Amino acid sequence: MKIAAGTLHIRPAHLRDADALAALSTQLGYPASQDEIERRLRAILRNRNHAILVAELDGKGIVGWAHASAEKALLSEPRAEVLGLIIDVTQRGKGIGTALMSQIERWARAQGLSAVSLRSNVIRDQAHRFYEGLGYKRVKTQHAFVKVLSKRE
Ligand SMILES: CC(C)(COP(=O)(O)OP(=O)(O)OC[C@H]1O[C@@H](n2cnc3c(N)ncnc32)[C@H](O)[C@@H]1OP(=O)(O)O)[C@@H](O)C(=O)NCCC(=O)NCCS
Repeated sequence: MKIAAGTLHIRPAHLRDADALAALSTQLGYPASQDEIERRLRAILRNRNHAILVAELDGKGIVGWAHASAEKALLSEPRAEVLGLIIDVTQRGKGIGTALMSQIERWARAQGLSAVSLRSNVIRDQAHRFYEGLGYKRVKTQHAFVKVLSKRE
């Protein structure tokens, strides 16, 4: 696909992309080593309920990635959930995020899913405007909780 910045190619991630995916994850605020990303990728790539797509720009390599999974829940119809989206800081505002989201939506439709949902940190104003521009509606604000489980219990 042609964008103003060159030719953009969107494809499923490979294990050999781990280095580039790790660098972008760190930009997103989730620092991870190449080894960590490779280990997670190895598990996820086996699971057909997940899609990890990378965007490659001619001469620049991987400039963004998106991860979505098909979620089944008692409280709602099955849908795709976007678990991560990041475009390299030097390549934003060129249509790459839009292209990745469009491919995620295409994947979701092909899975028979009728909606795509996502959560975005309240501080990411620019991302919220981006999603709203793509037709996503703000449905609620939540707190996120986590409990780290001790290995001994
Ligand atoms: C949010 C993000 C994924 C959007 O991807 P992107 O490739 O920059 O977005 P696009 O170029 O496809 O922009 C689409 C629209 O969003 C707006 N936009 C997004 N980022 C912009 C930027 N840095 N500069 C100018 N406009 C921008 C534009 O208005 C554009 O609309 P237009 O096509 O009418 O001009 C990307 O900026 C990013 O990685 N941000 C940091 C990480 C993040 O917040 N991820 C989402 C976590 S939930």
